[in-house]
Amino acid sequence: MKLGKRLSHISDIVNNDYTHIWDCCCDHGLLGASLLDKELNAKIHFVDIVPHLIDALDEKLTQFYANKRERWQTYCQDVAALPLSQYSGKHLVIIAGVGGDLCSAFVQNIMRQNPSLNIDFILCPVHHLYTLRQTLQSLKLTLKSERLVNENKRSYELIYVSTDKLDGKPVHAVGQRIWCYQDKQEYEIAKHYLNKTIDHYQRINQGRDDVSDIIAAYRSVQLKPVE
Ligand SMILES: C[S@@+](CC[C@H](N)C(=O)[O-])C[C@H]1O[C@@H](n2cnc3c(N)ncnc32)[C@H](O)[C@@H]1O
Repeated sequence: MKLGKRLSHISDIVNNDYTHIWDCCCDHGLLGASLLDKELNAKIHFVDIVPHLIDALDEKLTQFYANKRERWQTYCQDVAALPLSQYSGKHLVIIAGVGGDLCSAFVQNIMRQNPSLNIDFILCPVHHLYTLRQTLQSLKLTLKSERLVNENKRSYELIYVSTDKLDGKPVHAVGQRIWCYQDKQEYEIAKHYLNKTIDHYQRINQGRDDVSDIIAAYRSVQLKPVE
């Protein structure tokens, strides 16, 4: 099956730096399968909590990737407890398609359980990006890259971070590079996403929670052409 734009962008930024790549919340395993097709040196680990998804995926991988049997493994388990420390080498953990709150909890748990491992994360959740960015800041992860990806008229922040302190810069509270555009279409996408995000927090602000500082942070964003 063909990958959508969101998963394609994730697949495109995965390079050959890794020994182990974890396709977390893998669902039907589309992303991990595309990484297997990329002929990377890494082993691809597919993880999902739903047994019938992992059973079906195991069957498919056995059928189509029998010649790469040592290059993949499936796990039916909670991403919060990935068995990273059982594998030596450099890890890339990819978490996409779940809420930003859950994504934050996964990253926190993985970091807590593996304090001495060198781990990169590619994160592309839906909603709650402010919370996720706060978590990444508090964990002192460094930013390798970030971009806005548009799929089916919806925008997603794709954030690539690392535990490696020498590799990258601090994560910004509302993002920086995601607000830069190369052409009119990218400008319109970023503007729409920014307005939608501000509207979202304004609605929350009308309830019991005071999120005026978050609104102010997004209001201070200035869209800029890429330098
Ligand atoms: C919408 S799919 C995302 C699929 C793919 N990653 C993507 O971005 O398109 C969300 C998946 O997360 C899985 N999931 C939810 N909570 C999980 C957890 N705690 N541990 C592992 N998988 C989980 C669900 O079973 C589901 O297959």
